[in-house]
Amino acid sequence: EKIVLAYSGGLDTSVILKWLQETYGCEVVTFTADLGQGDELEPARAKAAMFGVKDIRIVDLREEFVRDFVFPMLRSNALYEGQYLLGSSISRPLIAKHLVAIAREAGADAVAHGATGKGNDQIRLELAVNALAPSIEVIAPWRQWNIRSRMQLLEYAGKHRIPVPSDKRGEAPFSIDANLLHTSTEGKVLENPAEVAPDHIYRRTVDPIDAPDAPEIVTIGFENGDPVSLDGQIMTPAALLTQLNELGGRHGIGRLDLVENRCIGMKSRGVYETPGGTILLTAHRGIESITLDRAAMHLKDEIMPRYAELIYNGLWFAPERDMLQALIDRSQAFVSGEVTMRLYKGSASVISRTSPCSLYSADLVTFEESSIAYDHLDAEGFIRLKGLRLRNWAVRNGR
Ligand code: ARG
Ligand code: SIN
Repeated sequence: EKIVLAYSGGLDTSVILKWLQETYGCEVVTFTADLGQGDELEPARAKAAMFGVKDIRIVDLREEFVRDFVFPMLRSNALYEGQYLLGSSISRPLIAKHLVAIAREAGADAVAHGATGKGNDQIRLELAVNALAPSIEVIAPWRQWNIRSRMQLLEYAGKHRIPVPSDKRGEAPFSIDANLLHTSTEGKVLENPAEVAPDHIYRRTVDPIDAPDAPEIVTIGFENGDPVSLDGQIMTPAALLTQLNELGGRHGIGRLDLVENRCIGMKSRGVYETPGGTILLTAHRGIESITLDRAAMHLKDEIMPRYAELIYNGLWFAPERDMLQALIDRSQAFVSGEVTMRLYKGSASVISRTSPCSLYSADLVTFEESSIAYDHLDAEGFIRLKGLRLRNWAVRNGR
């Protein structure tokens, strides 16, 4: 009997660690993932050791996260409910993948997580574990123990001498989830959607009002749908996104205040900051605009909401996501070239695009004299045929 716990080192998962040891009386292995959340991870080691954990794993997953999860998702231009870039949704399958891998390595038969019973994250983590390792059991303490409130959590911590940071002693903190793609903030004052979000909740973007008065220009290189360079310099996926987060944050890009539909059924209000991802989404559409065939583009735009919903609902490792991914990936074969973006006071706009695989033909579209054979009379016949049923319909209606 052994349990692998997804351990952040924070108060909640520390209480969970203790509770697992007490309740199951077995060895607990801790797994702490570096997804670029920006927290120090070494304190998690010291804390786990304090609880007597012998097998402590801290793993840097930044490159894998961006290369194998964020970039494949961005190829689809995925947005949930038209706006959310899925920053939390896309990280859970990766965490689950490593929970399972460590469980196998360490010979554990269960994994545990600190997601609550009301949210999306429990679904994403557990469906991913189901898909990857059907025989591994999932323990979700928030659904199982009888701690029902913040007060009771603090009481439990006190009783078991779990250190509570001074800023956690009072009222409940915001529920924050951060990684290289985004920071999300939920709870407290945000639970009233009529209440304007106070400025201090933003942690990685400035208010566009306070952003520099001078715009910044950056050129992003794409290869087969994935960003590969900034201003001509080839970069790894995580390095590239890190750099764009810095640029975007400075210019106030990627803030979103949203009421969304959780897959569990309730509406919830969250504030998101996705600086680099917002730049990349616009840039990717920019390079697609000259390299994709019209019908190919429209087809992927049609499936995008379904694909985004699958990721939101925790179905990353399901066969239907895999099928849609194959379609999306296939569309990206010629999505290569460069897009120049202007970052200015909260906006990221495409100002130029070039590609060796461009479908754009100036000669074809020009209002000036053109050498390409385009017969204007073809348009006349095209319109006459397209209009046939409309003329027929109008006559019937007595027009
Ligand atoms: N509502 C967002 C989503 O479902 C963010 C979830 C944030 N998770 C968290 N543990 N704070 O994707
Ligand atoms: C949680 O419940 O753990 C966070 C919110 C969510 O998963 O949607």
